[in-house]
Amino acid sequence: MIWAWYSLRISETDFSLLNSALEELLASSDLSTLTNDFLSVATPDQLGDLKSVWQTWVHLSTQGVKGLWVTERRQAAFQRDDKWEERLNNYLNSIPQQHRQSASDWVENGLFTSKCKVSWLTRENVTLTGSSFQWNKGKSDFDFSMEAKTIPFTGWDYNVIKNICYNDSLPEMYCTYLSNILNKCIAKLRRYQVKLYVIRCDCMAIEPFLPVELKYDRITTSNLSDYISFTGILAKLKTNNNHSVLVTEVINWGNYLPDVRDEIKENYTELAEKVVQDTNNSLLVLTNLISLLEYHNLVPDFQLYLRAALVESRSEEELASLAKKKRLPSIKTIVAALGLELRDYVRKENTIFPTKWAVNCRRVNLLSGDEFSLEWKLLKGDPFPNNN
Ligand SMILES: C[S@@+](CC[C@H](N)C(=O)[O-])C[C@H]1O[C@@H](n2cnc3c(N)ncnc32)[C@H](O)[C@@H]1O
Repeated sequence: MIWAWYSLRISETDFSLLNSALEELLASSDLSTLTNDFLSVATPDQLGDLKSVWQTWVHLSTQGVKGLWVTERRQAAFQRDDKWEERLNNYLNSIPQQHRQSASDWVENGLFTSKCKVSWLTRENVTLTGSSFQWNKGKSDFDFSMEAKTIPFTGWDYNVIKNICYNDSLPEMYCTYLSNILNKCIAKLRRYQVKLYVIRCDCMAIEPFLPVELKYDRITTSNLSDYISFTGILAKLKTNNNHSVLVTEVINWGNYLPDVRDEIKENYTELAEKVVQDTNNSLLVLTNLISLLEYHNLVPDFQLYLRAALVESRSEEELASLAKKKRLPSIKTIVAALGLELRDYVRKENTIFPTKWAVNCRRVNLLSGDEFSLEWKLLKGDPFPNNN
């Protein structure tokens, strides 16, 4: 299973299992019955969309393209990215030295396993392919579906993993860790503690698909706030559960404030000294600016961005009235006007996601160092008494 998620090639046994599972999914008109009520998809049309992907995978792996075609498409993805070599060298130089060989092997062969098992992995993993329409100007032939910069060691916290099952080989260490997680999930599934309900739609129009009887304690929204207005996302919090917390991750805000990079460059020497003092690793300074970010106070710039993003996401009418007053409201005022409370991220009062990750102790994760997570709650005292 871990191989099917992460490895460019999978074993013969997993290949057969994968195809028979896909055939079973394709034959089913109702996933809820097939999975003992564990998994369901909101509508038959949405299930149809998923099925067309599964169908293409089955076709490509059994009757379609032969040879090392997924491997070749992955190579092409690397070649498309003209910054790939530089990024890769930065990455390899900034992770702990003992992991470099295994990370470099993964780049070379895409195999997510320990060395001794490499010979088992003989089949191309078709599930790493998908429609290329997002980057290929609307053409939608199946291709390697990840950008070159996507590496499998980013999604799980390196600091936690290394403390549980340290190994010099990153693929081996991650395989062990993820197998543990998977086994815990299976145990929960067997106890009927988890149910998955898949909705494939524009998140701004999700309401018609949400089961009305459900209340939501936690609403995580990935980095949707980089794509759509805060107001739209935050409106999803007005549920019938006064204790809900909605989390927004803000990842791309630095693109709007190029001054941040300039400020760091201006203070390069001072920040570089702090990096070396703290990490005892002078190589980190040479890789890129990410190492320095941790020692630069990003909060004032982020506050500017957040305030602008919140103002921008107000309605035309409100904006016109603000323009008349010639005064921009504070973050607190806007948040209160939305009937919400924002956990004080400056004082690091988040309780679900860390406000910011420390990057230099988890360089394997390939964070950009300026990610912020914000936690939103409804204002106490039910500010929306008529809005159940
Ligand atoms: C950077 S990705 C999130 C990454 C993902 N959480 C992960 O860990 O791999 C953000 C995704 O949100 C999607 N997106 C943007 N606007 C959306 C919308 N209105 N409804 C649903 N998805 C949207 C984008 O297409 C993009 O794939």
